[in-house]
Amino acid sequence: MRRILIAGNWKMNVIDNINPVIDSSMKNDVDVLIMPPFIYLERFNTAIKGSRVKLGAQNMSSQEKGAFTGEISPLFLKEFGIEYVAIGHSERRHIFKETDEEISLKMQKAIDLNLKPILCVGETESQRSINKHKFVVENQLKIALGGIENNLKNIIIAYEPVWAIGTGNTATPNDAEEMHLFIREQISFIFGRNVSSEMTLLYGGSVTEENVKDLLRKDNIDGVLVGGSSLKGDKFAKIIEIAGKTNI
Ligand code: PGA
Repeated sequence: MRRILIAGNWKMNVIDNINPVIDSSMKNDVDVLIMPPFIYLERFNTAIKGSRVKLGAQNMSSQEKGAFTGEISPLFLKEFGIEYVAIGHSERRHIFKETDEEISLKMQKAIDLNLKPILCVGETESQRSINKHKFVVENQLKIALGGIENNLKNIIIAYEPVWAIGTGNTATPNDAEEMHLFIREQISFIFGRNVSSEMTLLYGGSVTEENVKDLLRKDNIDGVLVGGSSLKGDKFAKIIEIAGKTNI
């Protein structure tokens, strides 16, 4: 049974008020995850103590230690009790030029250290316009997951079409579901049907309290990765509440 996961990616921002999120997570039977900037992880780790909110990082190095100025070791995440980490977010891929190969190293390292990686995949608008969206996502999945053999239950996939992130252009629930079904099929080719049917698949890209219900109603959408709408505590709390009702 896949549980609904509502994840907030704060990017280079901090939420205005975490309290409504903590309250809402206590009242609703869904998993809630926040991903603050690195330097605030410890502060929010304290703030969420005793609640059901979980903590994730937005990125990590593929290396454990050494001369990598400005990077964050996955061992530091482990040391601070951080379970989840986003890998290959489209802003990392496009702004910071992270390659599929680098993302694959990060995935392998996260899995080896028993972290829970949220692998982000998704096509650009121009790739979709020439009907290459499935091809692009299939490749991203194959390269990122290719060598992984253990801790398969830890893996979460987020489908985030680049054209939908921060634009207000959410994918329609049908288009998102079509891609989620496609991703589940690809996971099935890579890891087998049992792993695929249990894997949590998130949708991300302009998710709001208005559109979250219709997205979560789809069979293969198990949760959402929320950027902009996770920065206002009351709005994010509302998304968690709606998800809780959809879950019943
Ligand atoms: P958005 O961001 O909700 O602001 O579109 C989503 C994401 O980048 O994860």
